[in-house]
Amino acid sequence: MKYVVTAGPTREHIDPVRFLSNPSTGKMGFAVARAAAELGRDVVLVAGPVALRTPKGVRRIDVTSAREMLAVVERELDGDDVFIATAAVADWRPAECAAKKLKKREMDGTLKLVRNPDILKSVRCRHKIGFAAETNDVMVEAARKCREKGLDMIVANDVTERGAGFGADTNRVAFLRKDGSVERLPMMSKLAVARRIVRFAEGLA
Ligand code: CTP
Repeated sequence: MKYVVTAGPTREHIDPVRFLSNPSTGKMGFAVARAAAELGRDVVLVAGPVALRTPKGVRRIDVTSAREMLAVVERELDGDDVFIATAAVADWRPAECAAKKLKKREMDGTLKLVRNPDILKSVRCRHKIGFAAETNDVMVEAARKCREKGLDMIVANDVTERGAGFGADTNRVAFLRKDGSVERLPMMSKLAVARRIVRFAEGLA
């Protein structure tokens, strides 16, 4: 059994110099990978574009787009593995990516988008843990995602809260398990949250 962890944002290019993305820094996912490696587990970290050092003992594979992330996850994931999805995957990508930098005269102010694959929902493996970073109705949304994506647990957090959003070193989360039980954790470092997540994963049958 190994751990496959996604982290960071994805970039969906419009042309070689422009893209759609989000402010994810990858800190939570890198902490999860580190926590699993600390236990001596085989860990593959599939990272979008981030500025972080690879944790010791972790095999890191860098990707750019959601589709690249899915391809690497599918290649790496075995039926017996644990998949932990912390990445802030862009849900949409431009319908076309221009081969050369677009000139403003070539653009008409609209951008046609198409849906990206839902990595967490589509992969099949022994155990899946996801994240729900929300700004409102946090627990309702998290419960829906846990059910729809077939997860063992979802880690919910309110990204509008100070010390819990993108780029912070701390997080305040709630664990919502598939049996419906909820555990609210106090504000703690992302590494401490990561160790709790891995402890939960280790306890899964
Ligand atoms: N996720 C994923 N692939 C996607 C979108 C999300 O793997 N294309 C994973 C994230 O890594 C996270 C979980 O699914 O673990 C929830 O992501 P989130 O963006 O909150 O959910 P969405 O499914 O995009 O839902 P919505 O747009 O309704 O908030």
